[in-house]
Order: sequence, then C-alpha cells, then structure tokens
Amino acid sequence: MKKNLIVFGTRPEAIKMIPIIKAFSREKDFITKVCVTGQHREMLDQVLSFFNVIPEYDLNLMKTNQSLNDLTADILRNIKNVFDEYKPDYVYVHGDTTTTMAISLAAFYSQTQICHIEAGLRTYNLQSPFPEEMNRRVTGLVTDFHFAPTQQAAKNLLEEKIKDENVLVTGNTVIDALLMGVEKLNSYENEEIEKLKKVINQDKRMILVTGHRRENHGQGFINICQALKKIAITHKDIQILYPVHLNPNVQKPVYDLLKEEKNIILTAPLSYPSFLWAMKKSFFIITDSGGVQEEAPSLGKPVLVMRENTERPESIAQNSAILVGTDKNKIVEVSERLLKETSFYKSMSNNKNPYGDGKAAERVVKFIKEKNER
Ligand code: UD1
Ligand code: UDP
Repeated sequence: MKKNLIVFGTRPEAIKMIPIIKAFSREKDFITKVCVTGQHREMLDQVLSFFNVIPEYDLNLMKTNQSLNDLTADILRNIKNVFDEYKPDYVYVHGDTTTTMAISLAAFYSQTQICHIEAGLRTYNLQSPFPEEMNRRVTGLVTDFHFAPTQQAAKNLLEEKIKDENVLVTGNTVIDALLMGVEKLNSYENEEIEKLKKVINQDKRMILVTGHRRENHGQGFINICQALKKIAITHKDIQILYPVHLNPNVQKPVYDLLKEEKNIILTAPLSYPSFLWAMKKSFFIITDSGGVQEEAPSLGKPVLVMRENTERPESIAQNSAILVGTDKNKIVEVSERLLKETSFYKSMSNNKNPYGDGKAAERVVKFIKEKNER
C-alpha cells in the first residue's frame, strides 16, 4: 500500500487539486491524505467546503499581510512533523505558490518522491510573475514526476533536460474541476448566487474583474481602478462585478478608488460556485489570474489579461485572450472594442479550450499506478 500526501495552501491550488484528491480516493492501492498549509484561510476554506474535503493536516499558517520570508520559513518548519509522522511515498504539489516551492523543498530534504501538477509553465522572466516563476522553476528542479497541462509546458520541461519518461501531458485539472463544479451547480442552492441575482441586472451586460498579482501592487492597481472607473462612467448601461481579493494591498486601492461608482459592484471573494455563475453571466472578463485565463475559454468568454506576459500562451494564440498589462488606455481601448464591435467580440468569444478535456486527474492516477506496478 503506497501513501500519498497531497499538499496545497491557496484557493487556486485547492480548486485544481480537488480532482486529484477525488480520483485517488477511488483507488484501493493507495492511502491518500490531504495537508493544507493554510497559506490562504477564508478563500481556501470556501473551496474545501464546496467540495466537501476535510484535510487530515492543517498547518493553519496564514498571517495578515504575510511576508514571503515568514511564510516560507513557517511552511518548512511545520511540514517536517507531517512528513515524519505520516512518511508519505509520494508528495503532490501544484503550480507555483510559496506553498508549492517550500513543500517541494521540504520533500526533497526528506527524500520523498515529488509529483508536480501543472508543471512546465514558464515566462522565463523571474520578475513576472513574481515570485511564481522562481517557485515553479525551483519545484521543477526537485520534482520526480512532472504533469504538464499542455504540449508547450512539456516542451519547456524537455528543453530543461527533464527526462521524457518523467513528463506526462495531462491537460489542466482546472477543467476537471470546472466540469465537476458546473455539474454540482445545477442542483446547488446558494444564498450568495441568489443575492448576486438581485444586484446583477439580467438585462445589462456585465464585466467581471479579478486581480491580485504582486507585480501589479501599487501603481498597477491604481491604473486598473482608473481604467474601470472610466469604463463605468462612459457606459452607464453596463455593470462591473469585482470580487476583491483579500490581500490588503489589493483591498485598499480598490475600495478607496471604486467604492463610490454606482455601476461597479465590489464584493468579497466569491465562493467557487458563485464565481462560476458570474463567469457564465459575464460579457467578458478582465483579470490577472492564471486560473481564470484557463477557465474563460470553456465558457466562451473573451479575457483581457492584465499582465505584461503570460505562461499561458495558448489562449493568446487562439485569440480568446489579449495582453493589456496595467496600461489604463489599453484596458479602456480593448474594453470599448468588445462593447461596441460585434465582429471583434465574436472573434474573441471562442469556446474551444486549449487547456484540457476534464480527464487530467485520471491520467495522473494512471501514470502513478503504472510507476508503482513496475
Ligand atoms: C497567492 C500566491 C499566488 C496565487 C494567489 C492566488 C504566492 C507568493 N502567491 O498570492 O501565486 O496566484 O495566492 O490567490 O504564493 N488573505 C486573507 N485571507 C485569505 C487569503 C489571503 O486575508 O483567505 C490576505 C492575508 O492578509 C495574506 C495576504 O492576503 O497575508 C496575502 O496572501 P498570500 O497567499 O501571501 O498572497 P496572494 O497575493 O494571495
Ligand atoms: N475564483 C473564485 N472566487 C473568486 C475569484 C476566483 O472561486 O472570487 C476562482 C476561479 O474560478 C479560479 C481561481 O479562483 O479557479 C483563481 O484563483 P486566483 O485568481 O486567486 O489565483 P491564480 O489562478 O492567479 O493563481
């Protein structure tokens, strides 16, 4: 009997790891336990509760406005007890957060096999996204088995001299989660969605906004808010829905600059089902999020990506996303075109999804089972 430990800490890791947890829970030859670092708290708990996951270990580490140094040190210090007690054969990490990097390092120190989900994403610019590009490269260096969401991600890994036999293209588990979420949504009664239905006018077009990247803190967020204000003032007939990330560096500028605008609705982060509802209802999306860039094409929603570059070039290549950075004029200009030019809107409203088919977790489990049988 082999022992899996699935570790994550933030909202997006939770969403994208749930399919792996569910897939392994059906396997008789594995014991699978879940450990959360609690890098996020409320935003993590929203996901755990929707998917009914109760972690066996919760390090509960989040502090208000935490520094990268403190969080990294706390994770390294606290995960050791879990490794010592449970002695996992395989540790699963996801993506590129501080949790991902610190847990990989700790697993490497304890000589445990590391499985990296969503491996191989790269911008090759250590400052953007910061510190995620470093996190995923460090993780890649110590990982044993690399589960790449796309062919491009696998190519990046092979070019870094990772052995072909240790790389598998799986698709992104975000699509597995999306399909699970949409199905659950059909029979799901949620007060939050009912509240949203009261403030979001069914007859008006709605722009959905999210943002949190560290490299956009400061002037970047000021520019973003100024752009949203301009769009809201010019188009009284549209609504902007903005669930604001709980990072204080995001909360402050967004509430200070936008709370007075009547057609901008600021809310706390939405639970995953409510956010899925909001994505489906939206006309288009403005975001700097990684996960949202991957989800939007499945729902046929154009995306303005508020970043200088992206490790997800596939949606740019198929023209369902455009990079606008945090340039106020560019955000306004592309939004205006989407609002006014039907042919431009249609050219971006492409619901082919280059990121997965909903079977990524299945492929991960099959690969590990086969490794185990050899
Ligand atoms: C982190 C990840 C980022 C990921 C994002 C997803 C790192 C370095 N960054 O960024 O890659 O895209 O999560 O959202 O790993 N907070 C709360 N409650 C919560 C969550 C956050 O209050 O549930 C506040 C706290 O004050 C916390 C701060 O936000 O200290 C920052 O959280 P942190 O995880 O360090 O950074 P994020 O910007 O969320
Ligand atoms: N999301 C959510 N509620 C929100 C905003 C986003 O559940 O209010 C989900 C979204 O569907 C996606 C994930 O959170 O799956 C993205 O998380 P985030 O943008 O925080 O992180 P990133 O993907 O950039 O790492």
